[in-house]
Amino acid sequence: MINFKSIISEKIAKEVELDVKEIESYIEIPPNEEMGDYAFPCFKLAKTLRKAPPVIASELKEKIVADENIERIEIAGGYLNFYINKQILAKTVLEEISKTQENYGASKVGEGKTVLVEYSSPNIAKPFHIGHLRTTIIGAALYKIYKFMGYNTVGINHLGDYGTQFGKLIEGYKRWGNEYNIDENPIEELMKIYIRINDLCKEDESVLDACRENFRLLEAGDAYCTELWERFRDVSLQEFDRIYKLLGVKFDSIKGEASYANSWGEVVDILEKSGKLTESEGAKIVDLEDQGKGVCMITKSNGSTIYATRDLAAIRYRAKTYDFDKCLYVVAYEQALHFRQIFEVAKYLDIPEKCQKGLEHVQYGMVRLTTGKMSTREGNVVKVEDLLNESIDRVKQIIEEKNPDMENKEEEAKKIGIGAVIFNNLCTTIIKDQVFDWNTVLNFNGETGPYIQYIYVRTKSVLEKAGYVPNFEEVDISLLQDKQSLNVIKNLYKFDDVLQNVIDKNEPSILARYLIDLAGSYSNFYNENKIIDEDKNIQNARVYLSKAVGTVLKTGASLLGIDMPNRM
Ligand code: ARG
Repeated sequence: MINFKSIISEKIAKEVELDVKEIESYIEIPPNEEMGDYAFPCFKLAKTLRKAPPVIASELKEKIVADENIERIEIAGGYLNFYINKQILAKTVLEEISKTQENYGASKVGEGKTVLVEYSSPNIAKPFHIGHLRTTIIGAALYKIYKFMGYNTVGINHLGDYGTQFGKLIEGYKRWGNEYNIDENPIEELMKIYIRINDLCKEDESVLDACRENFRLLEAGDAYCTELWERFRDVSLQEFDRIYKLLGVKFDSIKGEASYANSWGEVVDILEKSGKLTESEGAKIVDLEDQGKGVCMITKSNGSTIYATRDLAAIRYRAKTYDFDKCLYVVAYEQALHFRQIFEVAKYLDIPEKCQKGLEHVQYGMVRLTTGKMSTREGNVVKVEDLLNESIDRVKQIIEEKNPDMENKEEEAKKIGIGAVIFNNLCTTIIKDQVFDWNTVLNFNGETGPYIQYIYVRTKSVLEKAGYVPNFEEVDISLLQDKQSLNVIKNLYKFDDVLQNVIDKNEPSILARYLIDLAGSYSNFYNENKIIDEDKNIQNARVYLSKAVGTVLKTGASLLGIDMPNRM
């Protein structure tokens, strides 16, 4: 596909002493199309050339040799505005889509590079809460997009399966295990046992001792304790798997914190040797106060390790196993300090510098339900599985009201209900807190998943009505030069830039916003133009454009984890 931005940059580079890549990074897309398709801000050159930007602009305009790709160049203040040839634009985009189809936008930029995406990472025997839903959705989207961009991508679920609470859970189970139906409703039942044993510990110190002893035995590999722990892990995973299945999410590696049990010692040794480890009230710490990052505890005063140590062991394991270029942690912003600390301490570990530099915390905001707060402690828990099923049920109801004869109602309702929740998680900058309100999530006319699906279905019904899709060679591009068609084409053209932007910033919302824009531009096109037309040539062109939009909407949505329904 023709890269207009590069063409323009090369033309400018011939006339000034700046690197093409640098020029390309300065090129902007003007806020409205009257100002051209691309703009170069000449004040970037003012310092070296010692001239006022408007003067530079008019001199450059004289020198630059236009070619067929560029219609005209204009000066606006200190800007040089470029108007590209729209026929060539339309041809290059539509030809590319006809060649690549659902792979349109895929690239090889990531070839030879490995990106780990760690996401979801819930804690076993504890509820999978709405925050875990967010990391699961965001992480799965990033995973797919990196893969599409040619990276060797590994999705990791870093299960929270370790901690002294398992000593308690084992004790509770030993005492009352047969009173609870763990297979039926594992997490809820295990939580009940946990609360009960916790209360007993408060009353009776000797029970607490027994719990501690269980944990010690578990760490020492005792067969009975290990067996119980494995059972808790298995039943929890079964419950998590139901959620993953609903969302269509998979992992390449599910590896819990406990699996790093054998390598914590090495982390402590390495840090000891580096001279960074100091003692504080019996605990071993790395002091990061001088960098404003507080104190990172490595072992507790009783010698046991903590969350951070297990993360450091995981970093070593990942560096050795995958030799990664990037390792993304999709975790709520509450844990920002933790990650700043371990990334700093990772600099003292025996891993390549490339890996040290590739560690990144992808932070996301909290979820707020409009119907009150969501909390695991106050008993006001929203079960994620229930929430997903409720979304599907609500869509079913809407279908019953509006389109009761629809084919495959169940299946379509699932795609729409799940798609709506996924989209809602991804449509605003992820660091922002997310408000969850059913009226917004399921609004078919808002900036929502259902809206994008609806527009997609519209493109499909256009093709059905026409009864055929023309070949690219049959399309007369000059018939797609009206404002609405060109808007759609420009959006289609942007797709690979958008994907690149997503991975530059680890911000899947950029893709979500883009899909809204693309859908919106198609909706305008559809409203303004008669698609099924007596003039076969016009019809061919418009049907073809509809098909192209459908293809890109579908690819884009699937990168976010959203399936397209066949009807709506
Ligand atoms: N299990 C933790 C939680 O639910 C999240 C783990 C995040 N990942 C990590 N490598 N520390 O809060």
